[in-house]
Amino acid sequence: MNIVVIGAQWGDEGKGKVIDVLSEETDILIRYQGGHNAGHTVIADGQEFIFHLIPSGLLHRGKVGLIGNGVVIDPEALLEEMQRLSARGIDVTQAVKISDQAHLIFPYHKKLDLLEEKSRAGRIGTTGRGIGPCYVDKVARCGIRVADLCDPHVFAEKLRQNVIEKNKIFQALYQEPPMSYEELLARYRGFADRLAPHVVNGVRFLHEAMRQGKRLLFEGAQGTLLDLDHGTYPFVTSSNATSGGACTGAGVPPTAIHRVIGVVKAYTTRVGEGPFPTEFSDQLMEQIRTKGKEFGATTGRPRRCGWFDAVVARHAIWVNGCHSIAVTKLDVLDEMETIQVCTGYRDGATMIEDFPSNIGTLTRCTPVYEALPGWRTETGEASCFEELPAAAQRYLKRLEALLGVPICLISTGSKREQAFKVGCW
Ligand code: IMP
Repeated sequence: MNIVVIGAQWGDEGKGKVIDVLSEETDILIRYQGGHNAGHTVIADGQEFIFHLIPSGLLHRGKVGLIGNGVVIDPEALLEEMQRLSARGIDVTQAVKISDQAHLIFPYHKKLDLLEEKSRAGRIGTTGRGIGPCYVDKVARCGIRVADLCDPHVFAEKLRQNVIEKNKIFQALYQEPPMSYEELLARYRGFADRLAPHVVNGVRFLHEAMRQGKRLLFEGAQGTLLDLDHGTYPFVTSSNATSGGACTGAGVPPTAIHRVIGVVKAYTTRVGEGPFPTEFSDQLMEQIRTKGKEFGATTGRPRRCGWFDAVVARHAIWVNGCHSIAVTKLDVLDEMETIQVCTGYRDGATMIEDFPSNIGTLTRCTPVYEALPGWRTETGEASCFEELPAAAQRYLKRLEALLGVPICLISTGSKREQAFKVGCW
């Protein structure tokens, strides 16, 4: 069975943990979009591992991970991550494959990301990793791909053109010094030699694997509300973080995907700017942030926190076609006396049940809440649904009813063992 795991909120839903559980039943793990803006945290045997570009399921021995064509790769960041994981005993030599069609991030992308963000009237709060500008080049058809890096002549020419172009922008728009073509060429040629053993034709690799009956797990990065098309545009990332992105970003047809699992936190968080209807405005922000350790795995920025928003999650379930959902961080709500769930929005006298496409409406509207009793009991030791306090069971059942899909997995803590399957995927 081939499964896609996606974030059904604004990212950081705890996908790493869910993927870790699912990896046992998988052979090949695939990242299909985004870049090292992502940070998937997995805690195994008391040790914390953070994955940025490499599929997090590689924590399990014998698995193979593919960085698909839809990913944008900063070679320096990837090599660093490989080194870091290798030093901690994770096999990256054989296990990491890179699609030759993936696009490369260059220092000029990063510089542009920071400069554009600074000069923008409404900041997006990007991670500053060069993700957006790299995807801009991909769409503008001047991007440089891994296959180009492996061909010294093509690479030298493409890089030369890009550096000329970007230096014009740096000088004319930002009065910034130009970047050195020679320096970049030498640096990236060094990366090419080190990455070459990992490079594959991603499409062939996956189709061959499927022919052999291997099971694939597609790891979505970020979340649906950060999706370029379906998120809170323009406060989004520059790729398709939704399940459809798995097809274009890996080179498999929709018919190859058998299951889509949406991951939600028992509450909501978001990093960066943009509307967030259920955001806390009181001391709850600090309480949940501290209890949930809500600080970005990539940038360390404090995450904005709020109540569970069923409008957001329903939108995600539609767009992704989720068969089931995994609910993470239930334990973070253990001490709450009352828990609010947003069931709709109100815009003046108008009730809104569908996620608004218009950012103005989204910024203006107020959430309509339903209050549910908290359980005020620790849930971290529960090993099945029936062991959860009755009020926690009611809360989860209410989420299922509001979202119209079954819960397949519940996580009640950061440790590997603090997660249990509820039904089928
Ligand atoms: P970019 O992806 O760096 O361009 O940032 C665009 C928006 O997506 C910003 O609001 C970021 O904070 C957000 N973002 C990017 N990656 C992640 C992630 O992995 N988790 C949560 N938010 C993210």
